[in-house]
Amino acid sequence: MRSRRAALATFAGVASALTLSACGQQSGDAEDGSKDGTIGIAMPTRASERWITEGKSMVKDLKEKGYKTQLAYGDDDPDAQVSQIADMVKKGVDALIIAAIDNKSLNDVLKQAAAADIPVISYDRLILGTEHVDYYVSFDNEQVGRLQALYIIEKLGLEKDKGPFNIEVFAGSPDDNNTKYFFEGAMALLQPYLDSKQLVVQSGQTALDEVTTLRWDGATAQKRMNGILAKSYVSGKVDAVLSPYDGISIGVLSALKSYGYGTGSKPFPVVTGQDAELASVKSIIAGEQSQTVYKDVRELGGVASEMVDAILSGRTPKLNNRRDYNNGVKAVPAYLLQPTSVDKSNYEYVLVAGGFYTDAELK
Ligand code: GAL
Repeated sequence: MRSRRAALATFAGVASALTLSACGQQSGDAEDGSKDGTIGIAMPTRASERWITEGKSMVKDLKEKGYKTQLAYGDDDPDAQVSQIADMVKKGVDALIIAAIDNKSLNDVLKQAAAADIPVISYDRLILGTEHVDYYVSFDNEQVGRLQALYIIEKLGLEKDKGPFNIEVFAGSPDDNNTKYFFEGAMALLQPYLDSKQLVVQSGQTALDEVTTLRWDGATAQKRMNGILAKSYVSGKVDAVLSPYDGISIGVLSALKSYGYGTGSKPFPVVTGQDAELASVKSIIAGEQSQTVYKDVRELGGVASEMVDAILSGRTPKLNNRRDYNNGVKAVPAYLLQPTSVDKSNYEYVLVAGGFYTDAELK
């Protein structure tokens, strides 16, 4: 069995015999490759397209590098994800790539992984409160929030002193570490306009714990938006909604539609999003959702696959941030990619020319 310490500490290309067992499991594929290694990939949910895309793309990348893979989806159930990872550890995978459902629920299972010398990459969402996470690969998550806020600032003309405008703010799942980065990145830029009253939150709900959306669920967001519209917008209208994720944006837009928005006299507010999900890109083209933040998850999967290969081959993984992502126990060395703001004006260039969607898919 390969020593995790050898892989992580020496980076010296120590060749170890890899003892493997090919494993298949729920929604998992054991792909045949020529290298003697199996990589466990634990993804959080199939409710959002991105995780399906990158699950597939990592299986492909790792297969091309010669590894076998075991891919599992936790379907938003933290306990199920813990069992899936425990199963991968038991079957002797050589490395784990984990996008956590609940960032704090994995401590025990990661102790088992460490005891079995299995390196762990925290994927997209940082795993908190444990020393047993070796690397983090993600996007610059604060920048995601900044891009959403900048879009609102620009579209409302806040820098030109326009206003006052009504805004409502939404955040992601409270158990996802990314939530606070998205929210804080956005709110830091919006705060001056809230202070100057160019932006007004009629619901009064601005604290993170008042605006989160458990498991990023669109229906939960829709319900909250319905409540806000019923209570705080009996007169007056919403001009902007800070939404951190496309699934939430779609829920918010459904609530807005049921309150008569989207007509000549009551246009949709500026609604942000994230992930460039198909439904949201179509909504942007149709003039409903205003913006999304595109993250090329194929590229992220590629970085994770490359990192695993480096670790298991005794090479130093490529890193570009060693400081900023502290999980409460240590600063986890990270590689971060940059997100891109997308709206009607540039979706063709970014998403279609970039090969993420075809024109036909967007019809
Ligand atoms: C976050 C992720 C976002 C979005 C969201 C809901 O952790 O960074 O891109 O996908 O989860 O799945």
